[in-house]
Amino acid sequence: MSDQQLVIALTKGRILDEVLPLLEHAGVIPAEDINKSRKLIFDSNLPNVRLMVIRGSDVPTYVELGSADIGIAGKDMIMEYGSRGFYEPLDLKIASCRLMTAAPVGAKLDAPRLKVASKFVNVAKQYFSEQGRQVDIIKLNGALELAPLMGLADCIVDIVDTGNTLRANGLEAREVIAEVSTRVIVNRAAMKIKHALVQNLLMRLERAVA
Ligand code: PRP
Repeated sequence: MSDQQLVIALTKGRILDEVLPLLEHAGVIPAEDINKSRKLIFDSNLPNVRLMVIRGSDVPTYVELGSADIGIAGKDMIMEYGSRGFYEPLDLKIASCRLMTAAPVGAKLDAPRLKVASKFVNVAKQYFSEQGRQVDIIKLNGALELAPLMGLADCIVDIVDTGNTLRANGLEAREVIAEVSTRVIVNRAAMKIKHALVQNLLMRLERAVA
């Protein structure tokens, strides 16, 4: 990667829809319509900025290992990755939601050992260990709300936004584990070697947020 180039890893899906207008405010515009392309890396209007579009769970990996200089990902993904291998200088305050525990409406969670389904296994492990609760974590990759309904788990740890998915499946939110929003993360080496480029982009993004 050239010292003169910035690679920004974007999270595809919901976050992307909210991030693109912010990036545009910050002066970074993809050279083509990301949503109409099967490409995974895009040039931008700026000769030294390229944009990757990947899964949120992969953004911290690319940034920590330096294949992307900057990443844009949900705090949930950053917490789950659990690394200190990058900086997290900016909260974009978009795609806000909560990481919560949820269970069937009215269910008592008093088993000595709880079965917890989640895609956030590290977050779930840490949370229940802090609560002093014994748990078996069951890793799923989506549609977590099904797990208690089908007897696979007693409760789940998942993202709650409107709460509609929980309600539609007979579940209720219980405890808040973390407030989630979209964050900018920066590779440690890039922060030094590409300081001016990185700071300039951070400043523009900060203004766009404001
Ligand atoms: C997320 C999350 C919940 C839902 C919460 O799923 O896992 O299922 O959104 O939103 P709500 O509170 O507004 O209903 P997503 O749509 O990202 O799909 P996934 O199940 O594949 O993770």
